[in-house]
Amino acid sequence: MAPKVDVFAKAREFERMDQLRAARELGALPYFHVLEGPTLPVVQMEGQPRIMLGSNNYLGLTGDDRVKQGALEALQRYGTGLTGSRFLNGTIDLHVELERELAEWMGTEDAIVFTTGHQANLGALGTILGKQDTVIADSGDHASILDGCMLSGAKLRAFRHNRLDLLEKQLSRAVEDGGGVLVVVDGVYSMEGDVAPLHEITELCERYGVRLMVDEAHALGVLGERGAGTCELFGVEPQVDLRMATFSKSLASCGGVIAGPSEVVEYLRIASRPFIFTASAVPAAVGATLAAVRICRSEEGAQLFSRVLENAAYLRRGLAELGFELRPTAQLPDGSEVVTPVVPVVVGDDWKAVFLWKALYEAGVFVNVAIHPAVPPGGALLRTSVMATHDAAVLDRALEAFAQAKRGFEAEHGPLPSGA
Ligand SMILES: Cc1ncc(COP(=O)(O)O)c(C=O)c1O
Repeated sequence: MAPKVDVFAKAREFERMDQLRAARELGALPYFHVLEGPTLPVVQMEGQPRIMLGSNNYLGLTGDDRVKQGALEALQRYGTGLTGSRFLNGTIDLHVELERELAEWMGTEDAIVFTTGHQANLGALGTILGKQDTVIADSGDHASILDGCMLSGAKLRAFRHNRLDLLEKQLSRAVEDGGGVLVVVDGVYSMEGDVAPLHEITELCERYGVRLMVDEAHALGVLGERGAGTCELFGVEPQVDLRMATFSKSLASCGGVIAGPSEVVEYLRIASRPFIFTASAVPAAVGATLAAVRICRSEEGAQLFSRVLENAAYLRRGLAELGFELRPTAQLPDGSEVVTPVVPVVVGDDWKAVFLWKALYEAGVFVNVAIHPAVPPGGALLRTSVMATHDAAVLDRALEAFAQAKRGFEAEHGPLPSGA
């Protein structure tokens, strides 16, 4: 007897399918556009040069000759693939060096390199947590954190984004749950570009005696004097138990890392299924990452970190002057402003975000559209992000395109949310 339900029915009934088709028919689909060259400040995309304000290549290192050389040398020495897991036949000396250098840079006892950042979160959370434990997560945490929490089967207690009063409420409940407790937050939130107030979060975690993990995907290679991330910027590195980062942003490659105490890292090496049961990254990815880490840790690193943040501040100012609504920046305990490379423009309605995106695309600027579930419902954003290698002339051209797109959009669809 056949089942009553076809498991493929979801593909036909998925509500987003209609939206996808409608956007495609209107020529306004913001996804799957094809790059025809490297990710640089200006890219070749679908037959036109376009200013790239939608990449995570924060330091611009994907085009750096030393990083490309690192990839080439690894390719020539180890071939195209490793055809096996890190656990069995897929570890090369570049992994060992990379883990050592990442641990040194992040100031932890040890580090473990995964094939992707998503797998690093899955592999850490799904292994460290069990059904008997409780995990407390910010509602803005990246999807890979949520996936890791669900994989673990731990009790999930979420709190509204950056609401420390609600975090505390969940902490007071979690310590009564009976198992271990881990709080997981992003250092820099990927869509909104804001930061976790780590000085207060570490203080709360200490007070309740629970462990803390921080995802530094958008902060490693950007924030702090050493570029070690949000934990360094807030001066709380010793208070954070576990740190995660990816290689697909500032490090211009692909992969992920968990950095922390040796006992935990060693445990992950022999127990983490997303580490053991997947193929190791291609050698070129590992070679490129190592070269990028070395640039970040050289004297040049600090210049790149400040350049990307200066560019973000420049774009923020320009967009605010044009009347776009932006997210407020956070402050460090000493009162200084925290700028990150992610500068989201608040739109609100999904379709409005798509139409504004189209106007920008036609004016020669590529940005990302974030709609639910990447952001809360009704919180659609155009997520812009800068590179250290953008210059003022290119950013000025992008701002002119924003001004033109805003005028055209508002004439047809009415006013956009205003920052005024
Ligand atoms: C905060 C955060 N964590 C984890 C990941 C996953 O990293 P990757 O894309 O390198 O697998 C991302 C990627 O977008 C991210 O933004």
